[in-house]
Amino acid sequence: MNQSGVRIAGVGHHVPKGILTNADLERMLDTSDEWITTRTGMKERHVATVDVPTSDIALVAARNAIASAGIEAKDLDCVIVATVTPDYQFPATACIVGAKLGIPGVPAFDISIACSGFIYGLTVASSLVRTGVFKRVLLIGAEELSRIINYDDRSTAILFGDGAGAVVIESSEHDSFLSSELGADGSNPKNLYVEVGGTAAGPISAEDIATKRNKVVMNGREVFRFAVTKMIEATNIALERANVAPRDVTWLIPHQANRRIIDAAAKHLDMPPERVVINIDRYGNTSAASIPIALSETVAAGKLKDGDVILFVGFGGGLSWGAVAWRWNGDVKAAFSTNGKAG
Ligand code: UT7
Repeated sequence: MNQSGVRIAGVGHHVPKGILTNADLERMLDTSDEWITTRTGMKERHVATVDVPTSDIALVAARNAIASAGIEAKDLDCVIVATVTPDYQFPATACIVGAKLGIPGVPAFDISIACSGFIYGLTVASSLVRTGVFKRVLLIGAEELSRIINYDDRSTAILFGDGAGAVVIESSEHDSFLSSELGADGSNPKNLYVEVGGTAAGPISAEDIATKRNKVVMNGREVFRFAVTKMIEATNIALERANVAPRDVTWLIPHQANRRIIDAAAKHLDMPPERVVINIDRYGNTSAASIPIALSETVAAGKLKDGDVILFVGFGGGLSWGAVAWRWNGDVKAAFSTNGKAG
């Protein structure tokens, strides 16, 4: 097999135009802007209308990334979608996005590993390109978490939003991929899960729907503790593998789950705040979409320079976690939309 390097050739994102603010949540629940802001750093999140499936917001992000890469959809060899809010239980949302992009026949599959989806996807897509299986892979993180949130549960309703981010990963003479560290532990899946709808709990009943057992349940404190520990551990391992010292990391692009979790990881790395990418105030937690949206915004702001070292780090349901160390390579312009057609 041919061995090559890999680079991100294009990046884009899309969020639906509907916005759910802390003030809206104050009207819906026993909560306050002050509590949400100090405990999470969130101010607003975007929410898709019910007639817009995940594949549609994924498609807009994908088109933006394809335009940013200066290619056409037909130049892609594979489509991967990281999501836990697929259009259907099956087929994979990636198949639908591929067809909507006008490239039926191109291999396509989903990655279902919750908020760690983009980190896993980046590792898988990079490996497929570096080993010569594909030349160009489109990787999308796309979620409509609003569909699976219980808006009567104040401990989760405030946290999540909808959105999509995408990257085009292509073979390159210089290798951007420095290292990856992935992990998962399903010993306590119920710390963050949706109880019914799969094969464990039997068919969904009317009572399940009435009691919202088809919506997200989370043990917030447990996930918080796990998140801080695993973000630091994964960071240490990925950097050591890449032979990069923490002081040589130019940008920390973490999963946007809680401002306090990000601050703890940044403190560990001794990263000055201006090098930590945070957009949680505007999007909340968009699961697999949060890292590529943050990357796309950083590129759009013209902040990334050739040779910069980026540390992507995330965690989520599974429980699962991961970090990728990446050397930015090339002149990439981000294309994005917040008020596009989908949503
Ligand atoms: O992508 C991965 C997904 N998940 C996460 O990353 C979540 C990780 N966990 C967290 O971010 C935090 O645990 C939360 C933001 C979910 C909760 O923050 P916390 O500081 O851990 O709060 P807590 O769960 O310890 O609750 C403290 C208090 C409780 O009241 P009592 O028992 O002390 O009277 C809660 O009932 O805050 C209460 N509370 C709220 N109060 C106002 C919980 N949610 C709210 C709310 N508004 N929205």
